[in-house]
This record gives sequence, C-alpha cells and structure tokens, in this order.
Amino acid sequence: MQIARYTAYGGPETVALEDAPIPTPGQGELLIRVRAAPVTAGDARMRSGRVPRGLSLMVRLAIGWSRPRVAPGWAFAGEVAALGPGVTGFTQGQRVFGLKGFKGGAHAEYLTIPATGPVLSLPDTLSFEQGAAFFFGGLTAAEFLIDRARLAPGERLLVAGATGSVGSAAVQIARHVGAEVAATASPANHPLARQLGATEVTDYRSGPPQGPFDVILDVMGSLGWSRAQPLLTPQGRLVLITADLSEMLASALRRRRFITGTNKDDLPSMRRLVDLHRAGGYTPVIGPTLPFAQLAQAHRIAESFHKPGNLIVTMG
Ligand SMILES: NC(=O)c1ccc[n+]([C@@H]2O[C@H](COP(=O)([O-])OP(=O)(O)OC[C@H]3O[C@@H](n4cnc5c(N)ncnc54)[C@H](OP(=O)(O)O)[C@@H]3O)[C@@H](O)[C@H]2O)c1
Repeated sequence: MQIARYTAYGGPETVALEDAPIPTPGQGELLIRVRAAPVTAGDARMRSGRVPRGLSLMVRLAIGWSRPRVAPGWAFAGEVAALGPGVTGFTQGQRVFGLKGFKGGAHAEYLTIPATGPVLSLPDTLSFEQGAAFFFGGLTAAEFLIDRARLAPGERLLVAGATGSVGSAAVQIARHVGAEVAATASPANHPLARQLGATEVTDYRSGPPQGPFDVILDVMGSLGWSRAQPLLTPQGRLVLITADLSEMLASALRRRRFITGTNKDDLPSMRRLVDLHRAGGYTPVIGPTLPFAQLAQAHRIAESFHKPGNLIVTMG
C-alpha cells in the first residue's frame, strides 16, 4: 500500500508517498481500507510548522523539533477490511469514519485503529468524501458556538470567513440553533455563503459588516479583539478560531467574552455532530477533490486558506 510521510518542515514537496506493508490489526483493532481523507488546515500547519505567532516552540516540542515526527492525515472514511482478535460491534465491509488525531496516519491506503477509539459507523446519508470532510470544521464549529459561546436562538452571529471548513460548518450549525447569520467571504464564495444560510454576505476586504452582533466567530483571526469589540453587543462574545499566544493570554482575562483555544475530538463530540447531521443541522461542504497521488498539490491548496468547504483526497 501507499502511505504519506513528512520528510521535513517545509513546503508541499516535503510530503512523500512511499510503499509500506498493509498493517495487521492487533488485539481489539480494526484494519480500515481508507477511501477518502481530508487535507485540513491542521495538516498544512503540521507539515509547514507555520503556526500563529508565539506557538511555534510549543508545537515543535509536541510534534518534533527538526521535522514533524507525526504521520500525515488527521481523519478518514473507509471500510472495515479486517477485525483484530476480540473486536465486537463492527463487521467486515462496514462503512466507517473517524480520526487518527494529531499523531496522524490517515493519509494511507490502509490504517489500524482501536475499535473502541474515535471510529463510528458512517451514516447512509454520507458519501466517503462527506465522511472524510465531516469532523474537522464540524467539531470546531459545534464546540465553539454551542458549548463555549453558548449561541442562543434569535441571536445575531457574524461568521468572518464563512465558506471554508470551519466557516461552512458554523453557518449551518448556527442556523440550526436558530441564530441569524451574517457572513464575510470573498466575492466568488458569496453564493455558497447564502446557500448555507447566511442572510447578509459581504466581502471581508471591504471591512466588517454593520454590527451589533451577539457572537462573532472570527475564523482566521483577521478581526481580533480590537476590531471586533466595537461590533459586539454589551454581552457579545468573540470567538477567535485562529489565535496567537498573546491573544490566548488576553482571552484568559475576559473568559466569557473573548474565547480562544482548541476543540475536543473525542467520541462524545463526534456522536453529537452525527446527531446534528441526522437532525438536518449539518452536512459538510465538499470542495476540491484530488486523487491520493496528488497529495502534495492538495497541501498547496490547503495552505492557501481560501478553499471552499473541505479538501479531500480519494484512495480509489
Ligand atoms: N482552534 C481550533 O481548535 C481550530 C480548529 C480548526 C481550525 N483552526 C484554524 O482555523 C483556521 C481556518 O481553518 P479552515 O479549515 O476553516 O480553513 P479554510 O477551509 O482554508 O478556510 C479559511 C476561510 O477563511 C477565509 N479567509 C481567508 N483569509 C481571510 C481574511 N483575511 N479575512 C477573513 N476571512 C479570511 C476564507 O475565505 P475565502 O475563501 O472566501 O477567501 C475561508 O473561508 C486555520 O487557521 C486553522 O488552523 C483552529
């Protein structure tokens, strides 16, 4: 089988595809034949080592000093190819989707994962591509809007950067919650933002839209506290999905109104997102789709931070 490997911190050319033996599932493990996997903003950041200011040291301590010592690929969708000893609750051929997490390994034609780990049955309503796209933006948007900002029905939300992976999930989930959604996007993506449920769409290059907002979800951190605060109601909350170290420290002083951090990717969060999908509140947007052999090109697109929806590689 083919697997991906990072050879160094650097450009997309540092992603190499190489041959490897198909792994054997151990006790309690599933062998998955991967059909599709996302190439996320997180994958691009791991590969390049380019992270918001002040966080580089922490990231290199976590994933490798001189090169990323993690495997490429955070999430996957595919089929159960074999069951390791002692596995219950899954059958051979079952469609599944799940997460390899930050240690990675989903950019491969086969992978193993504990059957009790972050892997779930793929609903019939989702294709392999949609399954691959499902968790990255969806988990982030659901946790920050529902749990952290406590977005309520009737509130007015601005999603700044509304059509990428996180933004496209946020617009849908907010509409499902019953919020009114304004969005910013580049002009080519305005139809997509409206289709997702935004009622007011403007170009972020011509400045922020008219406030006040109860919640602002600033996907790329392009507004920051100083530009967002005048657009908020007195009880309004700013969520910075992309925040540097100084913003993270500053948010600790205004906990309720200024929200930063990272989201959870555990089984309860994954199940909650599946429930949201079943209730009609979220279906991931599929953007560019490339064959696995073009993984380096997919990284090139991912690190532009201007892709519509989710970028997928397919393993055939
Ligand atoms: N905190 C966490 O736990 C967490 C979790 C997931 C992701 N993230 C971070 O969130 C960010 C977005 O991830 P993603 O997967 O959604 O990326 P993405 O799919 O590449 O989407 C980026 C979005 O930002 C918009 N955008 C680009 N430049 C902008 C600017 N200057 N002002 C306003 N909007 C701008 C793009 O709009 P156009 O395409 O219309 O130009 C697009 O909608 C990344 O930095 C990622 O590392 C953080």
